[in-house]
Amino acid sequence: MKASIKAQNLRIFMLFIAGSMFWACQSSGTKTTSQDTPYLAMDGKKVYDMYCVACHGADGKMSFSGATDLSSSTMDLDTRILQITHGKGVMNAFKGILTEEEIENVAIYIEELRVSK
Ligand code: HEC
Repeated sequence: MKASIKAQNLRIFMLFIAGSMFWACQSSGTKTTSQDTPYLAMDGKKVYDMYCVACHGADGKMSFSGATDLSSSTMDLDTRILQITHGKGVMNAFKGILTEEEIENVAIYIEELRVSK
């Protein structure tokens, strides 16, 4: 008799734990997306890995078909955003492929590739 009451309590306890874990995941999920935008844009690193590595390489230095070495680039943020948006020479425009926010994210991210930060 005593043992079955214990088992019942344990089951309720487990349900409570599972429920609060679910709640914790849900609420931390909304925290990150509600920071400044209501939708999920790719972060800068993800965009870079998907769309830029082919020409610029993982470290920014690959320079495929004349791509600028991003590790030594000194271009300012606004100009980078413009160039990524509209393209230049061999580099294609990313307007329409990436959202404005994703372009900004990747433009900020590529600063991490600079040798002297
Ligand atoms: C098709 C190859 C290619 C892809 C893909 C590409 N680039 Fe480029 N990128 C280039 C080339 C070529 C240049 C040099 C353009 C010029 O000055 O004529 C360049 C230049 C740049 C510059 C200018 C740096 C400077 O100091 O002049 C930035 C910033 C840049 N790319 C960022 C990116 C980012 C971010 C992505 C991904 C969203 C990307 N590129 C994808 C080929 C590419």
